[in-house]
Amino acid sequence: MRSVGSETALDTFVDLEPASDDFRADVLAGLAAPQKAIPSKYFYDETGSRLFERICGLEEYYPTRTETELLSAHADDLGALLPAEASVIEFGSGSADKIRLLAEALRRPRCYVPIDISRGHLLHNAELFARAHPDIQVSAVCADFTKTVDVGAIVPAGPRIGFFPGSTIGNLKPDAAVDFLRGAAKTLGSGGYLVIGVDLKKDRAVLEAAYNDAEGVTAAFNLNLLRRINRELGGTFELKDFEHCALYGEAHGRIEMHLVSRRTHRAEVAGATFDFAAGETIHTENSYKYAVDEFHELAARAGFHPALTLTDPLDRFSIHCLRAE
Ligand code: AVJ
Repeated sequence: MRSVGSETALDTFVDLEPASDDFRADVLAGLAAPQKAIPSKYFYDETGSRLFERICGLEEYYPTRTETELLSAHADDLGALLPAEASVIEFGSGSADKIRLLAEALRRPRCYVPIDISRGHLLHNAELFARAHPDIQVSAVCADFTKTVDVGAIVPAGPRIGFFPGSTIGNLKPDAAVDFLRGAAKTLGSGGYLVIGVDLKKDRAVLEAAYNDAEGVTAAFNLNLLRRINRELGGTFELKDFEHCALYGEAHGRIEMHLVSRRTHRAEVAGATFDFAAGETIHTENSYKYAVDEFHELAARAGFHPALTLTDPLDRFSIHCLRAE
């Protein structure tokens, strides 16, 4: 851990950014598997984070705007339920707008700790928040938030509230989601709250449109993964050899994103060679959708009880306030 200089409004910055070896090892292992796959957490380099922010503003991508509307429409309910003078720990520092809305809903929040893998994005958002809220102590942690992060040294005693917006939980398979929730329960402590955004199951056409936007921003976001591999791992991918694809799989209740090879070809990554058949895919993301009851069951497996569930009038998105037992 280190304290940061006077040029910043942050209290502390803790850098646990995983070594680039993780990226290399994960990509090499993923491309060697029978179904080629790359973990979706690697979307978020600087360009990927910027593209994701553009996705959040798209007409077809309802989750961000719906969640934001829920947070502002129910600010009073959230403020009444959640403890005063709490430390807020955000898993992933996605959107400055959302944490601002939660902070405004809470009674005298003391401390804000965003945890995110994308260092530049994290520091930028943490800094903006700290300047806008001089009375809140802000400490940023650069880490993979799906691993349990020990925040004991930077979070003061007192109530803790976890914040995990954006339905990022949907990127994890259900068993991994339960593991994440168990870790969050441990971080938040008995009686701690988790405010978590979860995209709801719904009409396939609405879901698929959200991941196949007319402007092609989601396609660029998906393809940027190959650009990142080329730059950081000496990859030889030609972006024109791949096509974006996103489909809802009813059986798993998830959107799957893939990069589809347009032709038979070969590419190299970090000196290793990979063959692609025409039509073969790299699976790049799962985005699970949960009905309210399904999510309550998942949360219960991790020791969380629902304290308040918010949904929008069109039943597109949910925000759950869960309490750790
Ligand atoms: C950040 C995981 C919530 O799954 O909807 C958006 C990422 N991928 N468009 C999602 C994403 C394609 C997003 N999450």
